[in-house]
Amino acid sequence: MKVIRAIQEMQNEVKKMKQSPKTIGFVPTMGYLHEGHTTLVDEARKNNDVVIMSIFVNPLQFGPTEDFEKYPRDEERDKQIAEDHGVDYLFLPTVDEMYPEQMGIEVSVTDRVDVLCGKSRPGHFSGVVTVLTKLFHITQADHVYFGKKDAQQVAVVDQMIKNLNFPITLHPVSTVRENDGLAKSSRNVYLSKKERDEAVHLYQSLCLAQKKIFDGEKNPAIIVNEVKKYIQSNTSGTIDYVEILAFPTLQPLKVINQPFIIAVAVQFDKARLIDNFIMSADGKIDHIA
Ligand code: PAJ
Repeated sequence: MKVIRAIQEMQNEVKKMKQSPKTIGFVPTMGYLHEGHTTLVDEARKNNDVVIMSIFVNPLQFGPTEDFEKYPRDEERDKQIAEDHGVDYLFLPTVDEMYPEQMGIEVSVTDRVDVLCGKSRPGHFSGVVTVLTKLFHITQADHVYFGKKDAQQVAVVDQMIKNLNFPITLHPVSTVRENDGLAKSSRNVYLSKKERDEAVHLYQSLCLAQKKIFDGEKNPAIIVNEVKKYIQSNTSGTIDYVEILAFPTLQPLKVINQPFIIAVAVQFDKARLIDNFIMSADGKIDHIA
């Protein structure tokens, strides 16, 4: 595995790769790698000649009161994990390398962001899409891999690729969970023991919603209410949102009659956790984007 820190060097390597017909799979991350990330690498490894992973904690996507400074980092451990999973190139730029001066041009997102995390984290998705525009250009990826755990990110990247004509195929990958169902996340390390025990109820609340749908409930408001009550009774966290929306358009739904997402966000003391199920109208977990 080659570790590259300079944009110019990464671009030179990519130029060489592109001289022969090689496909490039790209997995962007912010590091502190866990099985959610490595599953994306495993998928990329199956379908591409070359796999590039980036680790970059992107300041543009953090709000002023968010955890940019405190975001967990462990470069040595990450390098080992990436190597063990067959990453060919690990791109590890510094903030100065990516943003040597104040950006004069940024990509802003105007659709699919007035709901869910976009609503509670203004500017977040513009920061995500700006860094991804840079990373997609630098890596010249043919295939990119994103986790459905961050489903709104998948919806926004889907639209970014289409609207801005990136010659890239997006591969959404199912959420990887702990044994009890908690979605793996770099931010789970912030949870206290008590909160960690409670956090499983985010997943359980989504299972409850799915059961309601299996039982024939079609009214999103009723399901959202049940899920809120369940989370309030079983955790000490504060609900940021529980929403049911059409997927991937993220438009409101009056009746569940098409593929949709139920998504939850709960603020614990130091960690804000998110989770979701993307389902078809009959409650089956869907393999749609
Ligand atoms: P990060 O939170 O490090 O996540 C990197 C990728 O791993 C994302 O596509 C995310 O959805 C996926 N992922 C995280 N936990 C997962 C899980 N439990 N199961 C499946 N996939 C999981 O998302 C970002 O970084 C950033 O916004 C980034 C895209 C790198 C842009 O800065």
